[in-house]
Amino acid sequence: MTNRVALVTGGNGGIGTEVCRSLGAMGCTVVTTCIDAQKEDIASWQQQLESEGHHVGWVECDVSNFESCASMAEKVRAEYGPVDILVNLAGITRDGFAHKMEKDAWDAVINVNLNSAFNVTRQVIEGMRERGFGRIVNISSVNGQTGQFGQTNYSAAKAGLHGFSMALAKEGARKGITANTVSPGYVDTSMTAAMPQEVRDQIIAQVPAGRMARP
Ligand code: CAA
Repeated sequence: MTNRVALVTGGNGGIGTEVCRSLGAMGCTVVTTCIDAQKEDIASWQQQLESEGHHVGWVECDVSNFESCASMAEKVRAEYGPVDILVNLAGITRDGFAHKMEKDAWDAVINVNLNSAFNVTRQVIEGMRERGFGRIVNISSVNGQTGQFGQTNYSAAKAGLHGFSMALAKEGARKGITANTVSPGYVDTSMTAAMPQEVRDQIIAQVPAGRMARP
């Protein structure tokens, strides 16, 4: 993995930061995307990981927007080199029962959690095919397999990511490209912290370890 370039969307979040650390520890140059709203925090994020000895950078990008992804990928190529490893991790929740859900909440989650995987993968996959190497990891969720109250949008997007991975794996196999989905259970991050306390307690009570996973 030494000297490989890894692109992690949403790499500055709870799970993302640990993904970047792991890739950094393997010797990769790691680049995260961040949205404009996070720009103030991103410098201290970068400083922290660099102080631990990792080579990390960031590029602004709205992963739900194809053009934004195209310009982000161009910047990554120019500044760091061709992308060998892609982790599609950026995700949001807009929870609400289907019978009350606004269309905006549906669209936002499908765009950020599912359409993003195509928007970003499309920018790097031709290069991976030409070079005969690529590793694509799509971060799904247990709720893409089980469904969850208030998450028709999120569960649909996360299940969709798995279908995307399976088809991509077939297409990439002869070109040295693997595509996989990782589906974490409930992880202790700001995303799960935003859940109503009683739902949180109810979920933790069902986890055999009696606690959420740590990033
Ligand atoms: N299990 C069982 N019953 C549930 C339930 C659950 N998880 N959630 C809601 N209900 C029931 C309530 O008990 C209530 O029942 P009664 O009508 O009999 O009282 C009914 O559904 C309505 O519930 P609310 O009054 O809470 O309705 P609401 O519209 O205000 O909110 C909700 C509903 C949006 C689902 C809210 O409960 C909520 O946000 N739940 C959390 C959803 C969740 O689990 N999100 C996961 C976020 S973390 C994540 O996504 C990361 C990952 O990948 C794992």
